[in-house]
Amino acid sequence: MSSTRVLYLLGSAAPPVLDVGAVVERAQGQGWDVCLGLTPTAARWLESALPTLAALTGHPVRSAYRLPHEPDPWPPATVALLAPATFNTLNSWALGLTGGSFIVGFAAEAIGKGIPLVTMPCVNSAFLAHPQFDRSIRTLRGAGVRVLLGEGGFVPNRPGEGNPTAYPWEAALNAVSEMVS
Ligand SMILES: Cc1cc2nc3c(=O)[nH]c(=O)nc-3n(C[C@H](O)[C@H](O)[C@H](O)COP(=O)(O)O)c2cc1C
Repeated sequence: MSSTRVLYLLGSAAPPVLDVGAVVERAQGQGWDVCLGLTPTAARWLESALPTLAALTGHPVRSAYRLPHEPDPWPPATVALLAPATFNTLNSWALGLTGGSFIVGFAAEAIGKGIPLVTMPCVNSAFLAHPQFDRSIRTLRGAGVRVLLGEGGFVPNRPGEGNPTAYPWEAALNAVSEMVS
């Protein structure tokens, strides 16, 4: 793909990640060269689809850090979208706990590199009530990350009442375009 607009689409293990192939196609339709990264758990959920997703993006799907002697297999990011963002991944990112997840490591370092960052949580209202959640959202927003939570983004559901097909991917892709326009 010849486009120089590179979107890193980074997903963690919440049900909307199972639709990521359609999201890749939508982003490609908007002119993005998409590189797909997953947490280890999300990669496990999508295991049987990983070869298809790699072929679709034209890049390796990454869920692990590269080895020291290996070159970076992706072109540099224009912008990154971390979605769906689980409670675990958001808190790890905000707290700088990068050891367990390549995408958290990338997103943590991207703040300092000045790469435009958008994230859309996928957490129910019970997770929202945990005292760390609000701290994490404020930390990320304070670092310049655009967090799509509430009206115009992801509106948390009650536990057990999530609807993955209603996850507002379109709002996330619109925010990505706005970040770089
Ligand atoms: C069916 C299922 C649905 C889940 N949905 C969510 C969710 O919507 N939000 C969330 O934060 N965690 C959810 N979890 C829990 C996460 O998958 C779990 O915390 C996992 O360790 C997150 O890892 P990751 O952030 O590295 O992807 C779900 C787990 C399962 C099995």
